[in-house]
Amino acid sequence: MKAQAGICAEPNLHAHYLFLNIVPGSHAAVTAALARLPALWRELESSYADAAFSGLVAIGNRVWDNLYPDARPPELTAFPAQGDAAPETPADLFVQLRADRLDVAYIGVQRVMALLAGLVNVQDERQGFRYLDCRDMTGFVDGTENPQGEDRASVALLADGPFAGGSYVHVQRFHHRMNRWQKLSLSSQEAIYGRTKADNIEFASSDKAPTAHTRRTSLKDETGRSMEILRQSMPWGSATEQGLVFISCCNTPRHFTAMLESMYRKDNNGHFDHLTLFTEAKTGAAFFAPSEDWLEKNGD
Ligand code: HEM
Repeated sequence: MKAQAGICAEPNLHAHYLFLNIVPGSHAAVTAALARLPALWRELESSYADAAFSGLVAIGNRVWDNLYPDARPPELTAFPAQGDAAPETPADLFVQLRADRLDVAYIGVQRVMALLAGLVNVQDERQGFRYLDCRDMTGFVDGTENPQGEDRASVALLADGPFAGGSYVHVQRFHHRMNRWQKLSLSSQEAIYGRTKADNIEFASSDKAPTAHTRRTSLKDETGRSMEILRQSMPWGSATEQGLVFISCCNTPRHFTAMLESMYRKDNNGHFDHLTLFTEAKTGAAFFAPSEDWLEKNGD
């Protein structure tokens, strides 16, 4: 099974994200159109080999059964909202177009929109970009502890079963409270992540606050195994606002859910992730990104 390349793609310079809702009555036509996307991904990959293009389409939890009534990924459920602080704002389709050339990512946008013309409305779109040396807009390097090499696929993709090569995808659009963040001292900022800012060194475990982001999101399951996700997030920004399009890809939704709960819910000692005081989750949605073969075989 060939996974969509956008799931495990190595970091790029540019991204364009589309959040689409299907026009009522267009579901059958959308299912047929989605079956043509893998060929489009392959065409763009080979036409612009210098651009490291990758495409990804993921189908929203809420609309899945309308598009594919015969089979449902076993763990596909609603976004695990954490009250108003991390809300669920469903979208029918999520499209991620990534490349090292902005023009090539944009050609991807045009081609996807041509394929879906009249069938979808755009709920939201964002451009993601590499900021400095892969930093978030808060100034800290993002993605360091992501799985590397072959581990990316083993964390992000279902290994077997009818949905092999697919991935559970969670997306949140964060808006940073930059004024508040910039008032913090360097040492306070570093304590919030549990890493140094300039040279991106992890704090010793004994030096990490129980409220540090990297402590709240480093979790183990009941058997003692690390719960991992593959993060594909990128910064976004306009003249007045900036933040992160956070994207988690994983072979189960359980890891992301546990991390989000650990960030937002107070533990027995009243601790939660203090990064959440400096960035606001405006959206949150759960999707499944089937393999290329699956999309092509299930187009009617
Ligand atoms: C680590 C930024 C939201 C999961 C990190 C790091 C940064 C960062 C700078 C440290 C370097 C690294 O390993 O990547 C952010 C920002 C967020 C955000 C700016 C929101 C605006 C989230 C969310 C989750 C998450 C919502 C999951 C629910 C993780 C994980 C790690 C991490 C698993 C690695 C922890 C470790 O093993 O040390 N994040 N993050 N992050 N983040 Fe986030």
